[in-house]
Parts: sequence; structure tokens; C-alpha cells
Amino acid sequence: MNDIQEYSTRNLQRFIDELADLLRIPSVSTAPEHKSDVATCAEYIAQHIRAVGIKDVTVFQTDGHPIVFAEYKSSRVNAPTVLFYGHYDVQPVDPLNLWTNPPFEPTFREGKVFARGATDDKGQIFLHIKALESLLKVRGELPVNVKLLLEGEEEIGSIHLEEFIRSHQELLKCDTVLISDTPIYAPGVPSLVYGLRGLCYMEVTVTGPNRDLHSGSFGGAVANPVNVLCDMISKLKDRDGRILISGFYDDVIDLTVEERRDYSELPFDEDAYRKELDIPVTFGEVGYSTLERVSGRPTLDVNGIIGGFTGVGAKTVLPSVAKAKISMRLVPNQQSEDIALKFESYFRFIAPPSVKVEVVHHHGANPVLTPRDSMGMNAARAALEFAYGKKAVLTREGGSIPVCLLFDTILHAPTVLMGFGLSTENAHSPDEHFLLDNFEKGIVATAAFYEEMGKQSI
Ligand code: BES
Ligand code: MN
Ligand code: MN
Repeated sequence: MNDIQEYSTRNLQRFIDELADLLRIPSVSTAPEHKSDVATCAEYIAQHIRAVGIKDVTVFQTDGHPIVFAEYKSSRVNAPTVLFYGHYDVQPVDPLNLWTNPPFEPTFREGKVFARGATDDKGQIFLHIKALESLLKVRGELPVNVKLLLEGEEEIGSIHLEEFIRSHQELLKCDTVLISDTPIYAPGVPSLVYGLRGLCYMEVTVTGPNRDLHSGSFGGAVANPVNVLCDMISKLKDRDGRILISGFYDDVIDLTVEERRDYSELPFDEDAYRKELDIPVTFGEVGYSTLERVSGRPTLDVNGIIGGFTGVGAKTVLPSVAKAKISMRLVPNQQSEDIALKFESYFRFIAPPSVKVEVVHHHGANPVLTPRDSMGMNAARAALEFAYGKKAVLTREGGSIPVCLLFDTILHAPTVLMGFGLSTENAHSPDEHFLLDNFEKGIVATAAFYEEMGKQSI
């Protein structure tokens, strides 16, 4: 145990209490009624960063939610600069009745903290601040220049962050970007993520007659938009799980032989996976393994479908309108805007003349592959091995972080995705939680990352 570890172990209970305070703030970015809570959360974080000894902190207002930026300048010449990115906004809590305890009243059970945002992403950004505190208290200074960029709109597609990055390139200039907003592979198995999927989110509306009709009087003569929508949805994918939208796979980069070998070497128990989800068989694109399907291949899924009579009992009606929310997870080099256009023209092409179709493109994200070897990746490898006593595995993940690609394209800095959540921690769903053991190991690993980076000069 080194002196940083000793400091964080000694202060762990206080760290956890402070994390609980952060988790009490309902910073739901998508909900207008929580706008002031999101602002309160930004201020709380800014204040906390100042309290650990980083004084240069600014809360930037945007047309949406605030961006917190902080900067620490090292006294060492030629020290590299690390830009840490994370988000303090959270997803909505519904369905509320499925939570064991209220989502914004953190509770502790089985070595976990339960609350909305615990793993995604407040627990992870807070452990980062605590790693900086530990370094500052024990060493008196940080070994590198550190910039912190914490946003309140990640869960709604980072709407205002692109413009902020474009217009603050000098402020954000760095050698390495560090993000802690991804899972580790399994409990006790640390990982570095080198790929994320992108997202293209569409909403479609299919309209038939100008009003709901008596299904006895009109049924048989008028196209039913719910039937039509289901028929159209069935044309989006074939039975082998291949997406049928014209040109959909044009820009997909195939998994390399090396990547497929790495996937096959990861410990994975298909039966346990099936049993945990209570499904008789897994299903996905023919020719790919489950791990490949959830991170290295694109998908198309209906997220929700709305239309017709859904109340208790039976009502004989031929509905006027049906809607579906459809998302596609993308892989490099697919582009969200391009896929949206391809989706729309295909969807219009398969529409029968009996209905009107409307297609709306919601926020999205582009997929990303980050370098598997870089100064930052090497520092992260050493840091994770130190904290977990085990070598990190390299993985790709299926989720999206909209801003990730911009660090490469605008700031020209490689990103390191070193996260500490678990994919089983119910992010975005009821009873979200975060394993306190990973909170603690995350602090040690993050501090070790900075110390490793401190050995480098630029
Ligand atoms: N932390 C996740 C991203 C993530 C999830 C990465 C799982 C790796 C594995 C992030 O907060 C998130 O939920 N992103 C959204 C993006 C969307 C709202 C644009 C997502 O992936 O759905
Ligand atoms: Mn997140
Ligand atoms: Mn999320």
C-alpha cells in the first residue's frame, strides 16, 4: 500500500458521504422541471473542485445546461496535460415504482451505493476528484497539468459541447484525454475501452385515416397504421439479424482478425449470460459472437411503439396514427447523419401508398475507435495493474459518448477510456448502483495514472 492509497483508505468514509451529497441532486438533463437542479449540481461540483485545492474553476453558461471547467498548472516544465471529461447529468428515473429506495436518496447495501447517477457518471467523476484530492494532500502538488471538463448534457446528446470545444480549443489544449464513463469488463477484471458505438435515433409516425374509426364499419377497407407500421418494421431487418436499409453497411469497418481473437479470449459464459437475462437463447447477427454483437457490430432496435387502444379491456377501433422510436447503434466509420438520411429514404421507400409517413431524427453520436497504444494508454495499463493487481483487458463497448470523437477531430488528442462501472449496475434503469470497491480502486488507479503520466515529458 502506498501513501496515496493510505490517504484514500483513511478518508474513504468521508469521500462516500460527499458522494452521497452529490447523488442527492436530481440533475436530470432531459426534464425541464429539473433545470435548476442541474445548475445546482454544476455549482456543487465547481465548489467541490475548489475545496480540494484546484482554485481555477469556471462554470460556463450555455443555451442549455452549464459546463464546469477547471485547470491546474503544474510547476514542472514539460509536464504533459491531461484533460478529464465526464458528465454530471443523469437519466430520468422512471419507472419510479421499480426502485427499492427513492432514486435521489442514496442508500447503501451489499457494498454498493444505490442512486440515479451512482455508476453513470457521478460516482466515476467524483472518484476522479477524490484522486486529485489525495495527490494534492499527500504530495502537495500534481505531477502533470490537469484540466477538468464536466458537462450536464451528455445524456441528451451533448448538444452544446461541440460548439464549446470548437470555440475554446486553446483552453482545452491537451496531450491526452481521460474519460471515466465506461464499464470494467467484470468484477475484478479491469479494462481499457478502445471503441464505442455511435447512435442514430429516429422517430417515425405513420398516419392513416384522419380520425380513429369503428373497426366494424371501416375495418377491411382502410389501411390500419399500426398494422402498416409493424409490417414496415419487419422490413428493416432480416431473420439473420442483418439490417436491410440500403447502404447501411457501406462504411462499416470489419473486425480485424486480431480483434476477433481478442474477443474470443475474453472470459465469457454464454449460459450464465442467458440465465441472468432469463432468455431461452441469445439472438443477433449470424456469424458473430455475443460479445462481438454488443460492441463491434451495428444494430437496429425499436425502443418503443405507440398506437391504438392500449387500455384495460377491449375497444374495437381502427387507429388513425402509429409511432415508433427506433435507434441504431453504429460502428466505425458509419456516420450518424448519413445513416439518418439512409434510414429516412428506405423507410419512405417501403411505405405503402395507403398511409402518410413522417420521419424525425433525434440526437445522435458518432462511433469511435481510440488508439490502443499511446502515452496515456500505457499509463492507464500500469495504473490499473497497480490498483487491481491484474493486467487490464482491452475491450470495445456498445454504448456511446457523443463527444468522444471530437477530442480526436478538434483537439487532436488521443482518448483513454478508463472507467470503473460494471455493465450490470443498472445504468439508465431502476436501482442503479455503484460498487464501492470500484470507487475505492478507481481512486487508487486514477491517482496512479497521474503519477505515471508525471514520469513523461513532452
Ligand atoms: N456512459 C454511457 C455510455 C456507455 C454506456 C459507454 C455503456 C459504454 C458502455 C453514457 O452516459 C450514455 O448513456 N450514452 C448514451 C448516449 C446518448 C444519450 C446520445 C447512450 O449510449 O445511450
Ligand atoms: Mn455516462
Ligand atoms: Mn448514460
